[in-house]
Amino acid sequence: MRFGQLLLPSNLCLSPLAGYTNLPFRLVVRELGGVGLATTDLVNARSLLEQRGAALKLIETRPADQPLAVQLFGSVPEEMRDAAVCLESAGVASVDINMGCPVRKVCRVGGGSAMMTELDKTSRLVAGMVNAVRIPVTAKMRLGWDDENLTAPELARALEGAGIAAVFVHGRTREQGFSGTVSLAGIRAVAQAVQSIPVIGNGDVTTPESARRMIDETGCAGVSIGRGAFYNPWIFHHTVSYLATGTLPPEPTFDERLRVVRRHLDLMVEVFGEPHGCRMFRKVAPWYAKRFGPSNEFTRHVVRISTVADFEAVLENYLRWRRQFLDEQDELKPKFRPAPLVASFMQPPGVASRQHIPVPKGPVETW
Ligand SMILES: Cc1cc2nc3c(=O)[nH]c(=O)nc-3n(C[C@H](O)[C@H](O)[C@H](O)COP(=O)(O)O)c2cc1C
Repeated sequence: MRFGQLLLPSNLCLSPLAGYTNLPFRLVVRELGGVGLATTDLVNARSLLEQRGAALKLIETRPADQPLAVQLFGSVPEEMRDAAVCLESAGVASVDINMGCPVRKVCRVGGGSAMMTELDKTSRLVAGMVNAVRIPVTAKMRLGWDDENLTAPELARALEGAGIAAVFVHGRTREQGFSGTVSLAGIRAVAQAVQSIPVIGNGDVTTPESARRMIDETGCAGVSIGRGAFYNPWIFHHTVSYLATGTLPPEPTFDERLRVVRRHLDLMVEVFGEPHGCRMFRKVAPWYAKRFGPSNEFTRHVVRISTVADFEAVLENYLRWRRQFLDEQDELKPKFRPAPLVASFMQPPGVASRQHIPVPKGPVETW
């Protein structure tokens, strides 16, 4: 998959997840393989231009964290343009514009989903950015504001005219938030509306099979995965393999899962320091635990860690407690194994709403 001149190593992208897609998480998924492009959390264009510490921390990167897109939000054309120029000179591979955020604070000032309601104004803002940089500029949107205003196809076509290099589309409206089923028909309408730029489908992809289904049924060039990567940071590697060969690599062993959890914590400590890194890890570790089998004992205590030593103590205690669920080969007894994940759009009607993927808490509560 190509965004303009930028050739990506795969057609699978890590979606921006404010509060989670920081440098440590991006490095973890990249080390496991298969990621074509990772995007930062959304960054306020003005804060970046003012060189605010929080904005600079969000764009912190390393050579192993490439290719990297930074997602900007804002609605002042000059600020968005200048922020894109600043990111280009910092060596970022591409700039993404947030047009999907439903949060009131972002929409009120004309950013996020509000951009989907004003096609001409948004196209002019995009053209200003595209003309100021050589790196690709992309947009991430939802299907529209609500069911009566499914503007994504029209907007994608207009943005292609303004020079956008690719469009990411989450197959839900702003009004839907995270409820209901992802609409493959809605994503297909966007893929059909553009002439030559890649459209990347997004929403509820939690397995390689669901990535395949999204690509086949929508004609999108690739998929972007957010929450599915929390459950399963191996999803990119597994999906690349599944798309190429039709076979699924074996599930990671429990030991491999523990290795990756520890690696993630080590990186959090390296990047954020031990006290802050451990505090941030409190909300990350329970996601890994969802694939551990019974894990209450882990989750209850891991949300209180302040040091790496605390984490190791929690783990040691948990491993002792977990033994009751194991057979003679030290494997989880069948009735304790976690159920396979199924994407909303792969489930029979009616089931999807009961088995939706949880939305993690974070600075953006209602994404
Ligand atoms: C906690 C959280 C934070 C998010 N932050 C962003 C963000 O900063 N920018 C953005 O465009 N989308 C954001 N999203 C939306 C995701 O990128 C993605 O479109 C959505 O979660 C659907 O994909 P998924 O089902 O694979 O998670 C966020 C979603 C969640 C759950």
